[in-house]
Amino acid sequence: MTQTTTSPSPNTPDRALLMDRGVPGRRGIRLPNLDVPAQPLPSADLLRDDLPLPELSQPEVVRYFTRLSQLNYSIDTQFYPLGSCTMKYNPKINDQVALLPGMANLHPMAPAQAAQGALKLMHRLQQYLADAAGMATASLATMAGAQGELAGVLMIHAYHQRRGETDRNLMLIPDSAHGTNPASAAMGGFTVAAIPSDARGNMDIVALREAAGPHLAGLMLTLPSTLGLFENNILEICDIVHRAGGLVYGDGANMNALLGQAKFGALGFDVVHINLHKTFSTPHGGGGPGAGPVCAGPTLTPFLPAPLVERASAGGKEAYHFTTPAQTIGKVGAFHGNFGVLVRAYAYIRALGGEGLRQVSEDAVLNANYLQARLRNAYDLAYDRLCMHEVVLSAGRQKKQGVKGLDIAKRLLDYGFHAPTMYFPLIVDEALMIEPTETEGKETLDAFIDAMLAIATEAQETPDLVRNAPHATPVSRLDEARAARQPDLRWKAKA
Ligand SMILES: Cc1ncc(COP(=O)(O)O)c(C=O)c1O
Repeated sequence: MTQTTTSPSPNTPDRALLMDRGVPGRRGIRLPNLDVPAQPLPSADLLRDDLPLPELSQPEVVRYFTRLSQLNYSIDTQFYPLGSCTMKYNPKINDQVALLPGMANLHPMAPAQAAQGALKLMHRLQQYLADAAGMATASLATMAGAQGELAGVLMIHAYHQRRGETDRNLMLIPDSAHGTNPASAAMGGFTVAAIPSDARGNMDIVALREAAGPHLAGLMLTLPSTLGLFENNILEICDIVHRAGGLVYGDGANMNALLGQAKFGALGFDVVHINLHKTFSTPHGGGGPGAGPVCAGPTLTPFLPAPLVERASAGGKEAYHFTTPAQTIGKVGAFHGNFGVLVRAYAYIRALGGEGLRQVSEDAVLNANYLQARLRNAYDLAYDRLCMHEVVLSAGRQKKQGVKGLDIAKRLLDYGFHAPTMYFPLIVDEALMIEPTETEGKETLDAFIDAMLAIATEAQETPDLVRNAPHATPVSRLDEARAARQPDLRWKAKA
């Protein structure tokens, strides 16, 4: 058989589409002679012979699709330093646990007596998460971080309404908050006002004091902030808000920075959400199902979204059932949340235990600070202080050399790395937000650092190389907005 196409080397982009690779007469399969009576074809108007299907051998088809699958960047193939939307390695065994027939095939309408094991798991998870956050209890019903935020602000709203303080409609949000926070507050019906950050990346306390007036409903604070920093004045901040009659909401999506080190409840927060699809063993960033449980302190527990799972004793035996908190904001989705994600989180927590969870935060913070220490001479630091789970660099220096943050992110693709989050947080010029996560080893971090250092040198010496990157990917710079809005996915025959 003559080979008309050569297999591309793994690093050589091969843009020929399958439809264009055919060679007339080539076959992928040879059908046996007909050994049953021939059947008549449908009528001619239902038949067509104008489909220019490519004629290919089996290996060509297999190689094409295998190669295509290899072009997918994934956490199973490489390091994924995406700040804020953390893609960390999650143990595969937790997927297997979630896929056990008793878990995966359980019908959401199964009566509680037939689902005691599942309810027990949910009850325990409620408590584990509440303990980790230093709160009274948790609702597992919310299915995303942003949904947890919305539930939290609706709880704050319901609390003020119930006390007759109906004109408390102001939600304060620092400018270093996650972008979903102001959106959730606005959806919850609040007027949103931003509090600026000071020169150290903390919230400007003077501005907070001025804004905390009689209309204050609450404050939403992302901890660690999107600058990757711990808020140094958190105790004072919670105190100011409480004295003004407001409540404090914590965005705890990035609990992997705090586990076993600091508890939201002890810091003064009234309600907090946690992203299980980030910290607790479900991949984040892949667009798959998530869970954003809401944990509440005593003040807001009665307002939690339904259902909660409660334990009772019946005839000397423990029994579990769903309950609805007294002043609940109601249901936030069908049934009981994303059960498979809850199972993964439960398995993860049980496998690691208290010590293991503490080590998660130690490693996450150590890894980010290692990157910061080794990259600080080549890039500007947004804030020159110890960071938490992620480090925010600025490509301000490179911008003066004519190379932007976007160019650096694109050049990283040539070195085999996924790009970090760029241009976020908005308050950092040319931001490159890098989260190594706790699951990467030193060799991987060193390889990434070497690539970043090499790119910094290239920005100085051969800026065009960086400006025109990537060079080794199948496609180069796309019009990403147009690609999303007007995807061109149909193959058209060449004229
Ligand atoms: C700090 C923070 N808050 C909230 C969210 C929103 O979570 P979700 O994407 O599940 O809505 C994220 C997302 O990664 C986040 O990083």
